[in-house]
Amino acid sequence: MPDLSDVTRGRLLYGGDYNPEQWPEEVWPEDVRLMKEAGVNSVTLGVFSWSKLEPRPGERDFGWLDRLMDLMHDSGVGVVLATPTASPPPWMGHLHPDTLPRDAEGRTEWWGGRQHFSHSSAVYRRYAAAITEDLAARYAGHPALTLWHINNEYCTYDFGDEAAARFRSWLRHRYGTLDALNTAWGTAFWSQGYGDWAEVLPPRHAHYLKNPTQVLDFKRFTSDMLLECYTAERDIVRRHTPHLPVTTNFMPLWAGQDAWRWAEEEDVVSVDLYPDPRDPLGAQSGALVQDMTRSQARGPWMLMEQAAGAVNWRRVNRPKPRGLNRLWSLQAVARGADAVCYFQWRQSRQGAEKFHSGMVGHAGEQGRTYQEVKRLGADLARIAPHVSGGRITADVAVLHDWHSWWAGDQEARPSHEVDYPRVLSAWHRALWQAGLTTDFAHPGHDLSGYRLVVVPQLYLLTDAAVDSLLAYVRGGGTLVCGFLTGVADQDDRVRPGGMDARLRELFGIRTLHEWWPLEPGETADCEGGLRGTLWSEELEPDGTADETVPYEGGELDGLPAVLRKGRAWYVSTLPEPEALRALLTRVATGAGVRPALDGLPDGVEAVRRGDLLFLLNHDREPVTVDVPGTHHDLLTEATVTDRITLGRYGAAVLKP
Ligand code: GLA
Repeated sequence: MPDLSDVTRGRLLYGGDYNPEQWPEEVWPEDVRLMKEAGVNSVTLGVFSWSKLEPRPGERDFGWLDRLMDLMHDSGVGVVLATPTASPPPWMGHLHPDTLPRDAEGRTEWWGGRQHFSHSSAVYRRYAAAITEDLAARYAGHPALTLWHINNEYCTYDFGDEAAARFRSWLRHRYGTLDALNTAWGTAFWSQGYGDWAEVLPPRHAHYLKNPTQVLDFKRFTSDMLLECYTAERDIVRRHTPHLPVTTNFMPLWAGQDAWRWAEEEDVVSVDLYPDPRDPLGAQSGALVQDMTRSQARGPWMLMEQAAGAVNWRRVNRPKPRGLNRLWSLQAVARGADAVCYFQWRQSRQGAEKFHSGMVGHAGEQGRTYQEVKRLGADLARIAPHVSGGRITADVAVLHDWHSWWAGDQEARPSHEVDYPRVLSAWHRALWQAGLTTDFAHPGHDLSGYRLVVVPQLYLLTDAAVDSLLAYVRGGGTLVCGFLTGVADQDDRVRPGGMDARLRELFGIRTLHEWWPLEPGETADCEGGLRGTLWSEELEPDGTADETVPYEGGELDGLPAVLRKGRAWYVSTLPEPEALRALLTRVATGAGVRPALDGLPDGVEAVRRGDLLFLLNHDREPVTVDVPGTHHDLLTEATVTDRITLGRYGAAVLKP
């Protein structure tokens, strides 16, 4: 199978979404000049071009795209060609209202924005296949074409009638019989028993709380329907160009797609990443997504989109301060990206994203944004021969599963303060701040290569997933589990005792009496100064734990907050950031896990990729870092002996 290395061929890709159809053609040569000056070697064409390619049903206008493909080829810029199917032309909704999705309240999502397509609509799928077929046939032999980009950020839901029919087929396939569905969904409660498949619906607007397993299955179904749309287009382009890889761009930690499953269907895994430049933990949220994407790719991956400056979709949109675009781009490369790309090349003057930055902003060539883009292009070209294709080894894996997220993130739960992505992020942050390189993994993956496995929260665990955790510990691994783990089975049925019995035994818990969720700002104090937030638990130990940290004071006084039995740890609260970092550092050290570099000052990130050591200063103040030995800094060409000073948002890429 072709992969990203067939596109990079020893380089790092640099460029972004190029939407030149919004500009007069006179601008195109100017674009090319600026691209060349900035070292751009890859652009993504056609993401939202459907109405231009098919102005009326069945008509085709490829002339403008032919000229662009030729222009890119003549300029030495490779093309990532997108299928335009994320934004159907207005004629489609007008002629075929059934292609428009409906939300849970029954409201139609009309054209006039984008992504107004029903994943379940046979008519939409037919038109999408037809334009994909013609696009692939036309450009299959074009020398500029390097990679296929299917659709864009698949993210839609549909609760309409055609989706309802497909949902029923999906459920028939999953359960076989209505009896099995009734059992899985627990429909004996509230008189929800189904007697005929025709009665089964998506979880539409209802008077009171919806059936949680119905909601869970609808999320599974939605991810699967979107995946069907993706694979249908992928198979078409593959037929024409079996030698070219295919991707679709994920949104970071997006709830709507089981990205583990999706990644299996991609040749290249790509993601769009927009940390808030004002967020003091923006670098860590970026690192989380980068680690996740690398783990899905099982190797180098593609940063398909980021912003050179401001976005336009937060309440207050600030640009990246001087140096930050470069730093965060190098961070992505450090964590395995072989492509650094943006939305979009030239900032729009019209349309909904005219206040979203581009590589060339409204200020044009002299603007700071483009000047920094140019500098970064030179940096990437300098380091590329040493970096491209390089691998990252992590001794720690953080487990994450979309199905568990979907099941846990529902109405009527013990605490709405528990937000899964925030819990996941808190654990990842502790590892990141401790300088420990971290992969993500699914509980069903082979975990045996990791010294330490961390489960921030897996509310839903299948029997197979429990088996896998137990086997991992039996095989010599160290496991740390956070609260609300192993509560439900695959149907979101609470396990007897409120937590899987085998896990309770693993940690030395006899009885989980009650959960004691905490209010914002409330803490659960524990012995030794550890303070828990968000959650606490009334646990009765079975006396087999080797070590416990008890709650101190309050209702849970003396009961264990943290238990360790052998190499298995259970943490029944969310320790404050410093305490969690200290705990994980201790556990990691015990498991033989070393940070990428010892003695790192706060705010400095160190990552090893291949034989290179990336150092990234996330602070505005200069900082000096000890790096024993003699190294060559690929960015400055300087020799570095024992220590290096990094300036404001400074970076170094050290080669031994
Ligand atoms: C997403 C989309 C782009 C653009 C950016 C703006 O990533 O894929 O088309 O809308 O957001 O941040």
